[in-house]
Amino acid sequence: MKDTFAKDREMTEENKASINWFPGHMTRTLRVMEKEIKNVDALVVLLDARIPYSSTNPEIEKIAQNKPKVYVLNKRDLADEEITAQWVKYYKNHANGAVAVNAKRGQNIKAVLNSINNELDELLKRRESRGIENLKNRAMIVGIPNVGKSTLINALAGKSRTKAADKPGVTRGKQWISLDSIDLLDMPGVLWPKFENNVVASNLAFIGSIRDEILDVETLAMSLLSELKVIYPQMLMDRYKLTEEDLSLDDYDLLCLIARKRGMLMSGGVENTERCRNMLLDEFRSSKMGRISLERPPEDE
Ligand code: G4P
Repeated sequence: MKDTFAKDREMTEENKASINWFPGHMTRTLRVMEKEIKNVDALVVLLDARIPYSSTNPEIEKIAQNKPKVYVLNKRDLADEEITAQWVKYYKNHANGAVAVNAKRGQNIKAVLNSINNELDELLKRRESRGIENLKNRAMIVGIPNVGKSTLINALAGKSRTKAADKPGVTRGKQWISLDSIDLLDMPGVLWPKFENNVVASNLAFIGSIRDEILDVETLAMSLLSELKVIYPQMLMDRYKLTEEDLSLDDYDLLCLIARKRGMLMSGGVENTERCRNMLLDEFRSSKMGRISLERPPEDE
């Protein structure tokens, strides 16, 4: 697939991310992937449906340039349905397989296997014409931490085979999972050494793929408010009983107002912004505000 995002990925001096966090095990995982990619026929790239662009690991895209790919947009239940459908169309238009799933509920899981088989149709025909039969397809499954990879694999395997890590970034080794129609190579969730810009870093943090401890959570909650004011103003107003006028407050004042509306006050009537920022992030992550997609696919030429 042509890297349609190449331009966006170029770093300007201005937006060079201040976050540069890359645990050693992620470097090791990328190296293992580079080696193992030769042993598989296809790649299953698991993305978060709320931020398909920010959850695409550019390092893996580079490593797997020439492999057939299926993009699986997970957590579709948390994302805007219409925008997810646009993303699926976008990936398909660029000669990839694409499926939106809810791994937690096991929704549309079979479509993932069908899509891999579709992508490998050509390969199977070539093998058959050379008399090679009964060779099981092999695919590598990759995704950023916390995207729901263990949950998807459990759903695909039909039982609890993999232990879901309870914190993003927890190391797990590679492992083969044998399904009826395919062997899947599960790789640990991995990020990349440098985020292209602060928007990507914030988006990854909003969904919980970067640990909260390494970020300034108040700044993060304010960026979320700032984003939602523009793309989902009505949702924000409904959830926190705000007026249109309230939305013109600056991000910190808006955070304080929401704290007051929710009765999050400390002694002396001071707003408890710490509680409020955590509440905002929790409510976003659990889609209490509604189904939100933070990114739209680029316009096709
Ligand atoms: P990982 O292997 O990629 O790191 O992710 P994992 O499967 O551990 O899933 C991370 C979190 O995402 C889990 O929530 C999981 O339940 C949730 N999840 C996975 N798929 C979906 C989905 O399609 N929709 C929704 N809404 N959530 C999904 P958790 O809170 O960490 O664990 P739990 O309390 O749900 O067990």
